[in-house]
Amino acid sequence: MSQGLIARWRDRLPVTARTPIVTLGEGSTPLVQADRVAKAAGLPPGSVFLKIEGANPTGSFKDRGMTLAISKAVEAGATGVLCASTGNTSASAAAYAARAGLRCVVFLPKGKVAAGKLSQAVMHGAEIVEVAGNFDQALVMANEAAKTKGFALVNSSNPFRIEGQKTAAFEILEQLGRAPDNHFIPVGNAGNITAYWKGYKESGAKPRMYGWQAAGAAPLVSGKAVLNPTTLATAIRIGCPVSWNGAIAARDESGGMIGKVTDGEILAAYRLLATREGVFCEPSSAASVAGLLKLGKNGKAPRGVTVCVLTGNGLKDPGITARFAPKIRRVRAGGAIKL
Ligand code: F0G
Repeated sequence: MSQGLIARWRDRLPVTARTPIVTLGEGSTPLVQADRVAKAAGLPPGSVFLKIEGANPTGSFKDRGMTLAISKAVEAGATGVLCASTGNTSASAAAYAARAGLRCVVFLPKGKVAAGKLSQAVMHGAEIVEVAGNFDQALVMANEAAKTKGFALVNSSNPFRIEGQKTAAFEILEQLGRAPDNHFIPVGNAGNITAYWKGYKESGAKPRMYGWQAAGAAPLVSGKAVLNPTTLATAIRIGCPVSWNGAIAARDESGGMIGKVTDGEILAAYRLLATREGVFCEPSSAASVAGLLKLGKNGKAPRGVTVCVLTGNGLKDPGITARFAPKIRRVRAGGAIKL
């Protein structure tokens, strides 16, 4: 039986014998060597690894934080949870809340949530509030609604989310048998880069943290909030990250950087991963690899061992694949095909 990450890392998480554990067997995701990515970045074989977070139960890294946030909400006697989301948080919250028997209310930016994620929220029985605005505006509403008695907010401002997510750093250290020299990660609301840095620090590791935002939604690069963030990488379409300070601290304390990649660069990485590595992630996830390839183009990809986090599964966002549609040959059944 798959025990889940609270059982696995119990002594490093804020749980007690009285915490009711709500788990779907999350964590313990694959770390896969990626020599085609390394080559494309001008690096030697064996230097780049992908942390496949789309292998979590609901298809994204959010499950790591959600198992703990929902367990702690149940422990505290909550009857419901709520969140704003670009899609993955709502899918994960809906699944874990369903398992725990809690109400789940999700605030989603209208028209900007990928189809797979929305279908998860629907099927897990979440109550959906469609906000005619962007994620940042939906989050303001969720924060307000969270004052309702009996509800717990499960966005990454909830410290249990960060605690759960930091376990991915523990796994990487174990899987590599050493600390990576460089850690590449997409950045939206900046909870995940904050969590990884916490996990590394607690383990005495100090990889350089390289965070990547979409060019049209890169407040951490420009140093000021973006009012109308735009990118086809909808998961990271965020103009004012909650964990702003956490991301800057991760960058500065580790000697890393936060950069931006265009939608074109994101799609090129997304495609390379799928066609050359056999790894299907969602576009936002590919921002980490896009950042590595961008540095590589200028001969500036960092030396040593690099881990790129792929945060979500490609099946989450089937809509985007239409632009890669190949020429399809049509035949009658039993007709001859020349290859
Ligand atoms: N990648 C994916 C697939 C995501 O869903 C998110 C965030 C990120 C990267 C960025 O992580 O916010 O911790 O910096 N998705 C959130 C959501 C905002 O609502 O699902 P972050």
